[in-house]
Amino acid sequence: LAEKAALKDRIRRLLKEREAVLVAHYYVDADLQDLAEETGGCVSDSLEMARFGRDHPARTLVVAGVRFMGETAKILSPEKTILMPDLDATCSLDLGCPEAEFAAFCDQHPDRTVVVYANTSAAVKARADWMVTSSIGLDIVKSLHEQGKKILWAPDRHLGSYIQKQTGADMLLWQGSCLVHDEFKGIELDLLRAEYPDAKVLVHPESPANVVEQADVVGSTTQLINAAQTMDATHFIVATDNGILHKMRLAAPGKTLIEAPTAGNSATCKSCAHCPWMAMNGLQNLADVLEGKTSRSNEIFVDPETGRQAKRAIDRMLDFAA
Ligand code: 13P
Ligand code: SF4
Repeated sequence: LAEKAALKDRIRRLLKEREAVLVAHYYVDADLQDLAEETGGCVSDSLEMARFGRDHPARTLVVAGVRFMGETAKILSPEKTILMPDLDATCSLDLGCPEAEFAAFCDQHPDRTVVVYANTSAAVKARADWMVTSSIGLDIVKSLHEQGKKILWAPDRHLGSYIQKQTGADMLLWQGSCLVHDEFKGIELDLLRAEYPDAKVLVHPESPANVVEQADVVGSTTQLINAAQTMDATHFIVATDNGILHKMRLAAPGKTLIEAPTAGNSATCKSCAHCPWMAMNGLQNLADVLEGKTSRSNEIFVDPETGRQAKRAIDRMLDFAA
């Protein structure tokens, strides 16, 4: 404990010395989330992380999350230094949508408006007309559909089919998935709901359709936390990465939060309910990066031309959200 407190003190001091700000996602270690808030940074969903990083005057941002979050920050602010505790922290959606295959898919369907999820590489975003996050994807596709556009969507098939069902848009879907949310199980959730008939069910839209169908609220991490805070219920079943429970408990004290069931027990299912890449962010590697102790600089770079192309798709979303 004393060691942890000393490490946190070191990080606070280093952030100040480097005039850096910490931007964290709700799925990372609770200590990192607390440090981000306490030191004037932010902890939020991917949309707010992007906006906060863009608008903050600090010249150095430390992004505690996964690689696409660091890349988005760099694309929006190429003049800033973007550091990450571990550059190998990636995402199964990003890995499952390689640039060349995605470009070929787009080439086959030139009549479609290309909408990609934030959880993609800079090169994939560069090929897109729009980038969206889970908090705003539905509204953006609805608007494009109302303008008569046909859509090519990548990479998350569950989020894509949820949006397709809600909007009735003509959407061609890439078949990617999140290895964490893919593990939530509809039948087991149904059984759990029978045990807690008054519980409200909060679901991230990267979950499979038979889980999403049982939701009282479907939304981004921020939207799910807000729901737990504001909804008139005492029990909530939560189908998303369990890193969210830290902030949810703080936002909704006194309410009972129950994790939605996954495929296996946690001994056999490594990625169940917690993202292995988000888990790569810790106090120690954050301190080391700020001190310049790692073998690599842990700085995020994006090819400037790719970044310029990708920025158009991200700016469209941010303008829409404004
Ligand atoms: P949010 O934008 O809802 O925070 O989601 C990001 C993510 O990676 C979910 O798995
Ligand atoms: Fe990617 Fe899923 Fe991890 Fe989110 S939780 S970063 S979508 S693998």
